[in-house]
Amino acid sequence: MEAQQITVPLRRCNEQYKELDQVLRILPQTSEHVKQLQHLHDTLLLDLWKPLLPEDIHAGEELHVRVPASSVQEMTGFLNQHLMAHKVLIHDVQEQLDSSMPREGQGKVPEGYSYTVYHPMEEIYHWMYRIKESNSELVTQHYLGMTYENRPMYYLKISKPSNKAKKIIWMDCGIHAREWISPAFCQWFVKEILQNYRTDPKIQSFLQNLDFYVLPVLNIDGYIYSWTTERLWRKSRSPHVNGTCFGTDLNRNFNASWCNIGASQNCSSLTFCGMAPESEPETKAVARFIEERKSDVLCFLTIHSYGQYILTPYGYKTDLANNHQELMEAGEKAAVALKEKHGTNFTVGPTSSILYKNSGSSRDWAHLIGIPFSYTFELRDRGTYGFILPPDQIQPTCEETTPAVMTIIEYVNQKYFPSSAVAVTSVSLWLIVLFAWTLS
Ligand code: ARG
Ligand code: ZN
Repeated sequence: MEAQQITVPLRRCNEQYKELDQVLRILPQTSEHVKQLQHLHDTLLLDLWKPLLPEDIHAGEELHVRVPASSVQEMTGFLNQHLMAHKVLIHDVQEQLDSSMPREGQGKVPEGYSYTVYHPMEEIYHWMYRIKESNSELVTQHYLGMTYENRPMYYLKISKPSNKAKKIIWMDCGIHAREWISPAFCQWFVKEILQNYRTDPKIQSFLQNLDFYVLPVLNIDGYIYSWTTERLWRKSRSPHVNGTCFGTDLNRNFNASWCNIGASQNCSSLTFCGMAPESEPETKAVARFIEERKSDVLCFLTIHSYGQYILTPYGYKTDLANNHQELMEAGEKAAVALKEKHGTNFTVGPTSSILYKNSGSSRDWAHLIGIPFSYTFELRDRGTYGFILPPDQIQPTCEETTPAVMTIIEYVNQKYFPSSAVAVTSVSLWLIVLFAWTLS
């Protein structure tokens, strides 16, 4: 097969720069600016990246927005005329999309699978199969449910066989289709555990007490659609209102003050909350599964991009989680570990106060049903590439996120299994004594 660039159509307009979709960063400074931007949003069909909803635009807070080619000129003219500070973040969206696509054959390397390119869904299905086949002592693959378009959802269970009842760490990726870095991280994370569990005493201790359940792509239909048809698709693919619009925002579809705030009842909105809580087969599958095991699930991690946040409950209200203190403590430790790797800054805190209000998220739902450690990770970046994070950032992003996630798990492990944590320390103490003795 020859090296061929796979492209996802966005809209191809060559020639001059005015004909390209662009992503702009804008800083509204007055409430007048805010009103004008909200109006433009509706008339110019702007695709808001940050915030996601026009009502969350506030003076003094920066905005990231994709402007369709046909509106770029008008938009830029308007911003200049009203002296609104702005900057082009992505000059040519299509070019940026093209360059983040893998070239034919790039996904396969001598080691078998490349973790530093984005993979289409069939390759991820195949990856799951291979992972469980070649690590059968630790990994099993399980059916979770069917997507709207009838594709099977599988999760990987990483568990060291023993008679002991263990607690559960849940992690899901890819609930929003276009956030491709998220499934890439779930795969990387599984690889890391499998590569290191024999030698890393921390992972060994985790596996004594905990099983990992990893769902690499929650929104499979949407993910596939983002590969074949529309790279910046966010939602699932179920039809609504007689097929006039498609897709539910699966992270607004959980039973946590469903559709009350930061979500829309309009099926053409980016944040459409669906017809009812868990109206979508994908969310229902996850919710049923977790619900059945809720007394064993200690940690619920859901991975997104972008913004560089570790978010705690709640998103739909400003009340703090009942264990806010420990959530912050573990989250802040995680952010420190993350920064140590490549210097990346993450902000830790309750969603409603550090991002914006939104109801129906899986993180809030999980905490409401009693799962103590529930976090959303918003991975890189802070807007330079936004939802089109270049593949050369997969590796550094995963390298920094892995120790952050491990830090949270370590916190949980020490809290619920203090004796085993001590056991590890005393083993390493003895090793040090032994080592010192050998040297002397
Ligand atoms: N992954 C989040 C979502 O799509 C993004 C949240 C914050 N970042 C942003 N650029 N709006 O809901
Ligand atoms: Zn998201």
